[in-house]
Parts: sequence; C-alpha cells; structure tokens
Amino acid sequence: MDILKKCIQVLENNWRDNFTIPSDRLYPFQWNWDSGFSAIGNSYIHPERALIEMETLFSGQWENGFLPHIVFHNSARYSSYFPSADYWESQISDFAPKKVKTSGITQPPVHGFVLERLYGFGLDKKRIESLLRKLIDYHLYLYHYRMYKETGLIKILHNWESGMDNSLWWDAILNKIDKNDVENIALNRKDINEVADSQSTRPKDDDYRKYLFLLKKLKSEKYEKIPENHPFQVICPVFNSILVKSNESIFKLASIFNIEVNELKKWHNSTIKNFDAYLFDNNTNLYFPYDTISATQIKVICSGSFIPIFANIPSKDIAIKMTDKIFEDKNNIPIPSCFLSEQGHEEKNYWRGPVWVNINWMVYQGLLKYKLFKLADKLYENTIDLVQKQGVFEYFNPNKNTDEIRGYGGANFSWTAALIIDMIKTKK
Ligand code: GLC
Repeated sequence: MDILKKCIQVLENNWRDNFTIPSDRLYPFQWNWDSGFSAIGNSYIHPERALIEMETLFSGQWENGFLPHIVFHNSARYSSYFPSADYWESQISDFAPKKVKTSGITQPPVHGFVLERLYGFGLDKKRIESLLRKLIDYHLYLYHYRMYKETGLIKILHNWESGMDNSLWWDAILNKIDKNDVENIALNRKDINEVADSQSTRPKDDDYRKYLFLLKKLKSEKYEKIPENHPFQVICPVFNSILVKSNESIFKLASIFNIEVNELKKWHNSTIKNFDAYLFDNNTNLYFPYDTISATQIKVICSGSFIPIFANIPSKDIAIKMTDKIFEDKNNIPIPSCFLSEQGHEEKNYWRGPVWVNINWMVYQGLLKYKLFKLADKLYENTIDLVQKQGVFEYFNPNKNTDEIRGYGGANFSWTAALIIDMIKTKK
C-alpha cells in the first residue's frame, strides 16, 4: 500500500474518541509528547481532532501548571499497563486533577510548536487561546520548579522525562543506584508480552527496577518537590531544545492574542544564553546532557546530541559540522539513538541504538531552517525508506549491514505515521 495511505490509516485506527494512543495494546493511554506529534499528523487529515487531542492532554494538567507524561483516560484498561495509574497514585498531590489519573513526571514540551502549527490550520481561535494560556502555565512551572540555579536550563528528574527511556546517556547515573535499594521492587511488566523478541528490544528488568526506584523517590515528595539527594537531576539537550523551540512559538502566538509573557521571555533569554556553556562540547562540536550532581557532561554520542539543530541553537557552521557527523559512518542508517561507535550500544534495544522517526523529523526540520537542503533531503530519503520497506514501526535497526530488516517495538506506531505524513506533505 502507498506509504501515505498506510500512515493515515494508522492514525485513524489509533484514534480513541478524543486522543490518539501511541500504539494499540503496548501503549493504551495518552502519552504527552506522542500526542503532540500525532496532532501534527492529524492536522492534515482531521484538524479538529488535532485540537481535541491537545485539549484532552491538557485535561490532565495539574493546578501548579505541571503537565504529566501519561494521562490514563480509560479506567477499564488501568491494569493493562505497568506502571499502572494506581501505581503512580497521582492523587497524593492536591495539585493533581480530580477527574482523571495521571503519571507524576513530564516529557519534552512539544506543545508550543504544535499549537503554532494548529493556529496555521485556521481552527477555532478561542480554543487555541485557551490552550495557549494553559501552556504558558506549564512552561512557567518548568522554570519555577525545575530550573538549575538561575540558568534558565531545565532539569529532568527521571530518565522517562527525556522521552528516551534507556538511552546510554543515563547509564552512569542509574548504575550508581544502590543494588539493595532496588532488588525487592516487584515488577508486573506488560510491555514484554506485546512485542517480538522483547529480551533484546526492550529495557531489562533490572533497568526497570531502577526506574521505579526513582519514581518512588519522586512520590515521596508527592511529585511536588525535588527529593533530597535525588540521584537523577540532568539538563537534557533534547528537553531544553524543544523548550526553546516551543517558547518561540508561544511568543508568536502570545503577541497575536495580546497575552503578556514577560517572565517567560526573561527565562527564555537565560536558557539561550547558558545553553552552550553547559551543553556544548568544543572537541566534538556536539551537545551532551549535563549531570548537575556530578557537574559533568555525559559524553556519549546519541541522536539527542543533534536536536539543538531543531531549535536553531548552533551557528550554521557548527550545524554543518554536526550534520557531517550524522552521515560520517557509511554503515549507519541515520540517526542511531546511540552511535554504533559507542561502547554499550545495542542495535535492537529501544533507545540504545535504533533509529526513531521523531528524532529524524526534528533534525530534518532544523536542517530546512538552516537551508541545508541537500543534507535535509538525504535524511528525508533515509527516513522514508525505512518506513516504506519495514512498516510503520516504533523504531528501526540503524545498522545497514544487519540481517534483521524489520522494525521493532509497536507496529502501527502513531508518531511514526504522523511525522511521515508531515514530511511527505511538506516536501518541496
Ligand atoms: C516509550 C518512549 C517514549 C514514548 C512512549 C509512548 O516509553 O520511550 O518516548 O513517549 O513510549 O510511545
């Protein structure tokens, strides 16, 4: 079937009354950044749905502005996912919404640039404005509760908040967690029953116990404050680039709707000012996370190292050098979530090597902005080719010479479909 038709069908099938699930059975609720990406795809087919998708996501917003990474709309399916809505216990915080259960951590703030896109599609202005006001509250929440010192840079408190769950980036921090603290944590994982070859394509049980240990710590402060000695406090270049990109969209929309955003602008300027000082590495010309506990950069080359291109943060010269790195290894399909040159990478395992379409889409958008059209075309062709040959999967093997030519994880994955639709529709 024609790839565009197939992708549209995936979004149609994954629509659930008022939001899009990322993938049937594997992810049966509403995920935060997934919803933003799905809305971008839906804006071509059902713009109204794209708007509803954002409104449904924001129905899970907390009173302090926080926007959770999962909103559990369907109570009948609570037990079909782990950690379940009951495990998260969002209601321990008075800020949490009463009508719907949510997780207690967030995800990269994609909603600003999504909303700007929806505005362009001529949807109801009042509803866009109302979402915009909620979104400003969320960004202010990030600056008020998550800022590192006065830098304008935002800390994530859990590897799941990066959206790149088991990236090699997080290994050193997670490896420091005491084994005794995690060994008794009971698991009731569902994901491993839903995908093929889960032993090599999903995080390991021991990793999961560490994720749950962090969750328990955050829960001990009702998800409201950073727990004392919390071991995971990282400035992630992906999260912060997406924040910059979305801030800029917010400013454009705020001026249209005449909304005052002075405080947000002030913090945004600090984010830009300090971005390179903490996250850029002169030797490699790449960006890395900054671990605020050890006060060091985490120097492992992952696809996230290139996301500042999306927010036009590096100069054009640096962006070209960065992009050369993407295409340097002829054995790679761009962009491996962790480079095959990095010790510990795994070609099939989730964020430890495989290619993800949302990452490629963001870098592609950035390259177009820099007018690096040849490089953008190359990335476009590689990305479309993967989905064309292997299907609308969650992630793909990055090794050109592999015998395994098939996608991994969830089949019929929403953001893969949505962003391929966008790439095809906007191709000149
Ligand atoms: C995985 C991904 C995360 C995504 C979620 C739902 O946890 O790592 O980024 O939001 O699945 O698709």
